[in-house]
Amino acid sequence: MKIAIAGKGGVGKTTISALICWALNDKGFDVLAVDADPDTNLGSVLGFPSSKKITPIIKMKELVEERMGVQQGNRSLFKLNPKVDDIPDKFMREHRGVKLIVMGTIEGGDSGCACPENTFLKRLLHQIALRANEHIVVDFEAGLEHLGRGTADKFDHLLIVVEPTNLSLDSFDRILPLAKDIGIKKIWAVANRVKTSKDLEFMRARLGKQELLGSVSFSPACSEASQSGNWEILRQDKIYQDVGNIVKALLIKE
Ligand SMILES: Nc1ncnc2c1ncn2[C@@H]1O[C@H](COP(=O)(O)OP(=O)(O)OP(=O)(O)O)[C@@H](O)[C@H]1O
Ligand SMILES: [Mg+2]
Repeated sequence: MKIAIAGKGGVGKTTISALICWALNDKGFDVLAVDADPDTNLGSVLGFPSSKKITPIIKMKELVEERMGVQQGNRSLFKLNPKVDDIPDKFMREHRGVKLIVMGTIEGGDSGCACPENTFLKRLLHQIALRANEHIVVDFEAGLEHLGRGTADKFDHLLIVVEPTNLSLDSFDRILPLAKDIGIKKIWAVANRVKTSKDLEFMRARLGKQELLGSVSFSPACSEASQSGNWEILRQDKIYQDVGNIVKALLIKE
């Protein structure tokens, strides 16, 4: 499966992405995690040692300029179809059976730019989406800028994470039509930080006809983990079972 995770800032995308990777790996599948978030912390949650030191591919200026054919700093002239097929294997790391690529993203709200970096990221994501031997889990930032037509249709599932707040559901309303428009096959809402059945009812009412794929409980273990940096404790937590159920549901709907 190729799974993309999106949703409002801070809603739990990275946490849920990491737990999905573990749950798939526990079932014996090969997993490639892709960090496409500007803040790049999927690696730390997945327990990659010194993950902060992994340079996002987009930050490798020389590599990007060489592949894009940028000459003498003329950034308005670049290849539209750069060679990127060797990049995933060259730059991925592995920890406890989960592979990770840190793509990074374009900072400064300029991710719609007609610049070499944008084209490079799109091609790279397209290349990753063509891989056939692993489940792929992409932790996106709030928008889906690099997931254009032609790549989005390679993704089987988009999970839009929401929490029991109007703001996160407003984001859902913005992401949904965009995701439909670019051709992602199956789009699901996933509820996070659920404390009570009232929380769930609130989200269900706001989501209307949109199916909720599953829900993840609020977990105090998350703040413990973010303070200690030991995210492994989440494996023993209720939220791991919750995410496990989401993975089961995805595998059925494949
Ligand atoms: N179910 C949960 N219960 C309690 N805390 C949670 C839960 N899920 C995530 N958190 C906590 O909320 C914070 C934000 O989570 P996370 O980093 O996964 O969100 P994000 O959507 O990836 O954020 P960003 O948009 O900044 O990338 C983290 O401190 C995380 O530990
Ligand atoms: Mg994140």
